[in-house]
Amino acid sequence: MEKLVITGGKKLRGEIRVSGSKNAALPILAATLLAPGETRITNLPDLRDIETTKKLLRILGASVEGSVPVLRIDASNVNNVEAPYDLVKTMRASVLVLGPLLARFGRARVSMPGGCAIGERPIDQHLKGLALLGAEIDLQGGYVEARAKRLKGAKIYLDMPTVTGTENLMMAAALADGVTILENAAREPEIEDLGDVLQKMGARVEGAGSEIITIEGVKELKAIEHAVIPDRIEAGTFMVGAAMTDGDVLLQNYPMSHLRAVGAKLIEAGVNIEETPEGVRIRRGKEIKAVNIITQPYPGFPTDMQAQFMSLMCVAEGTSTVTETIFENRFMHVSELRRLGANIKTDNRHAVLTGVKKLSGTQVMATDLRASACLVLAGLVAQGVTEVSRVYHLDRGYEKIERKLRSLGADILRVEE
Ligand code: EPZ
Repeated sequence: MEKLVITGGKKLRGEIRVSGSKNAALPILAATLLAPGETRITNLPDLRDIETTKKLLRILGASVEGSVPVLRIDASNVNNVEAPYDLVKTMRASVLVLGPLLARFGRARVSMPGGCAIGERPIDQHLKGLALLGAEIDLQGGYVEARAKRLKGAKIYLDMPTVTGTENLMMAAALADGVTILENAAREPEIEDLGDVLQKMGARVEGAGSEIITIEGVKELKAIEHAVIPDRIEAGTFMVGAAMTDGDVLLQNYPMSHLRAVGAKLIEAGVNIEETPEGVRIRRGKEIKAVNIITQPYPGFPTDMQAQFMSLMCVAEGTSTVTETIFENRFMHVSELRRLGANIKTDNRHAVLTGVKKLSGTQVMATDLRASACLVLAGLVAQGVTEVSRVYHLDRGYEKIERKLRSLGADILRVEE
C-alpha cells in the first residue's frame, strides 16, 4: 500500500486545471448502456472509480476503447446483465447500471452494494422507483434481480433527494413507455449533466437540476458524444488548500455556479474569491475566521466538502460548528485530525471545533475518500511531517492529487508503505 508524506508550511501558489467530475462521469458512463453504437465521453478524470467502471462495462459485454480523458464505449453487444459482488463491493456507484440494464434488456442482476464506511446507504428508493415503473424486483442472495417486459412511465415521489437514486430512475425512464415524473428529485449539477446526455440520446427530459424532473421515454436511444462537467468537489478542495496555506491559486475550468454554498462559506471565513477571465483566483484575506456549516442536499453546503472544510476550521480563529445531516457516520476524519492536534468535540452528527494556532505532523490514516483529502489539507499546514496512509481511498476521487499539489509548491511525496 502507498502513503503520502507531506512536510507542512509551504504556501500553495500557481495555477491548476479542475478535472472532470467523478460524480458526473459515473452515471454518464452507465448511461452508455442505454444505446447501441459508440458513445464518446470526454473530459473524464483519471481515477480508480473510472477504471472500475470500465471493468464493469467490459464484464457486461460493452467494448471500451481509449484512455482517459477520452473513452469510446460501444454497448451494441452487451450480453450480460449481471454486476458481480466482487466488483460492486469496491464501488457502490456500480448500482447505476441497474436502471439502464433493466430498461434496455428487460433484466438486471446487480449485487447489493453492502455497507460503506460513511453510512448504511440503502438503495430502497432506487428499488421503489423501478417497481413503480413496472419492474418485478427480487432480493436473492445479496443480489437485486429486476425484470420488466417494458417499463411504463410513472409518477415517483422520492422520500429524500437521493443523487444516484434520481440518476438510476432517470436512465430507466428514458426507455420507458410514456412519461415519468420524479418528484423530490436530487438537484446536483451532476444530475443536470446526466439530463443533458439523455436529452442528446433522444429522450425528452425537462427539469433536470430541479426537484421535479419529467422524462418522456422513447423506444430506442442513440449513441452520442459528451464532455463531463468539471469536478466541483475537487475545485472546492483546492480552494480550501489555498486558504489554509495562505496561498494564491488560480483554478482553471472552475465550475463557479456549482460552488455557491462553498464559496459563500469561504468568503464568510475571510477567504478572497476573485472571478477572472483565466479562472477563479483564491487567496486568504486576513486571518481565517470560524464559521458554522450544515451539510444539505444541493444547493446547500455539500456533504462531500464537510471533511475538507473541517480542516480549515481546525486552524481558524474562534469556535465553529459542523453539522452533518446526510450521512450517519461521516466524522471518521475527526479522530485523525485530533492526532494532528485539532480541538474537536463531537456528539453524533454535530462537531464543535476550537481553532488552534498550529497542527503538528504525525502518522494518520485515511478512512474514506473525502476524509483522505481533509488529512492531506491538514498536512499542508501542520508543522513537520504528516504521513497519510491508505491513499487508495484518495485515488478514487482525486486525479494525481500529489502532482497537482507539488505543481503549486507543496512538499508532498507518494511512497510505498
Ligand atoms: C452520491 O451518493 C455521491 N456519489 C456521494 O459522493 C455524495 O456524498 C452523495 O450523493 C450525497 O451528495 C455519487 O454520486 C457516485 P444519496 P449517493 O443516495 O447517491 C439515503 C463522494 O465522496 N438514501 O444522495 O449514494 C442515504 O442513506 C461520494 O464522491 C436512502 O435512504 O447518496 C443518505 O443518507 C460519497 N435510500 C442520503 O439518502 C436510498 O435509496 C443521501 O444519499 C438512497 C439514499
